[in-house]
Amino acid sequence: MPPNIASIILAAGKGTRMLSRRPKVLHRILGRPLVLFPVRLAAEVGARPTVVVLGHGADEVRQVLPPEVQVAIQPEQRGTADAVRVGLSALAGFDGKVLVLSGDVPLLGAGTVKQLLELPGPVALVTALAGDPTGYGRVVRGRDGRIERIVEERDTSPAERQISEINAGIYCFDAAFLRERLGGLRDDNAQSELYLPDLVAAAAPRVASLAAPMAEIAGINDRRELSVAEAALRARVNAEHQRNGVTLGDPATTYIDLDVEIGRDVSIEPGCVLAAGTVVAEGAEIRAHSVLEGARVGPGCVVGPFARLRPGTELAAGVHIGNFVETKKARIGEGSKANHHAYLGDIEIGKRVNVGAGTITCNYDGQKKSLTRLGDGVFIGSDTQLVAPVTVGDGAYVGAGTTVQEDVPEDALVFTRAPRVVKEGWAKRRREKAKK
Ligand code: UD1
Ligand code: MG
Repeated sequence: MPPNIASIILAAGKGTRMLSRRPKVLHRILGRPLVLFPVRLAAEVGARPTVVVLGHGADEVRQVLPPEVQVAIQPEQRGTADAVRVGLSALAGFDGKVLVLSGDVPLLGAGTVKQLLELPGPVALVTALAGDPTGYGRVVRGRDGRIERIVEERDTSPAERQISEINAGIYCFDAAFLRERLGGLRDDNAQSELYLPDLVAAAAPRVASLAAPMAEIAGINDRRELSVAEAALRARVNAEHQRNGVTLGDPATTYIDLDVEIGRDVSIEPGCVLAAGTVVAEGAEIRAHSVLEGARVGPGCVVGPFARLRPGTELAAGVHIGNFVETKKARIGEGSKANHHAYLGDIEIGKRVNVGAGTITCNYDGQKKSLTRLGDGVFIGSDTQLVAPVTVGDGAYVGAGTTVQEDVPEDALVFTRAPRVVKEGWAKRRREKAKK
């Protein structure tokens, strides 16, 4: 039988170095809040239950957590060991391994954690060799190479500061060992905090360790680290899409969030943004500088350049959306086209509809949003305003420059025109008058 594994995720800290009103673990990379990375990782390696320890901004953070995780509140941030004590109190009666993950280490891979869980003994931890170990706890090993203790940067001696092996803040403990030893830790250190890494000295020499690449265990403490981690993950995500048969014109300027699905033979030109929740079906072309925010794009569609598809956009097969077209809550039927300069919000469009340049849905009357419906085969001339709620029947034809305020019957022609006024020679007379 596989061992019982529970996990505790430490996420109560304020994230002082972020200089933010928002709790650190709610800052996002590739569209996903930091705290959800360890939450998903714990589920992936089979840990159950998962307890997330919250403190700063607990109510806000709780809102992004999936319902299956438990929350424990650490009222005062007295250190990582205190946070684990709080988490453990939610695991009464649990016997097995306790995986401790940090809310601010998003790039850790499941493979590394699975290896960690295989290690024997009361304490196992992940370490890494850092080019620049500044800010991390250093791993102190004895002459025999065994780990003796971890020393936090602020408590290091000059010699210890030179150590490049660092503590990743990722551990696997025996539940019984944690219960027995957590209470015995002291806060006689530079930060007057209860340090979880002090349990390493308590267990020595029975400490197992696993070396991981620095890229996986980089912690996020400020905005620069946030952007560095995001760039690293973006490169991985883009490469994965390429491996799955997606053409990226320039991966360096292609911004694809997590939780985006892209089919085979899709091509994405430089400068595009595909935000979380976007789905692009096989063979679609996303041309340069388009922004897709949770949109669904059907097979063989052509989108952009310079298009913006907002949430609730659903394009059926073969739809064309061209430059400077914005869509929101727009369901657009097979083969329909809106090729230039338009705003299509709260609209249902049938099949083979042509939406002319400069068409605008007037979907908001200052109080509420209303729906526009265009039937199959409708033709909308350029510079049309569709004042919602309004329906244009199948096959109808709307002349250029029309303000459509009432429903249009099937197969009808509708247009509004101000009477034309022509005054022969008027402009010439005006110029001559000005000369005098
Ligand atoms: C910690 C480790 C350090 C390690 C580094 C790796 C300690 C004392 N030090 O330092 O050895 O090299 O991680 O990234 O553990 N937290 C709480 N409650 C608290 C304090 C912290 O929940 O009272 C949470 C934070 O929200 C954060 C995590 O624990 O998610 C780590 O805390 P942080 O302050 O970032 O520790 P580091 O200084 O990075
Ligand atoms: Mg940290």
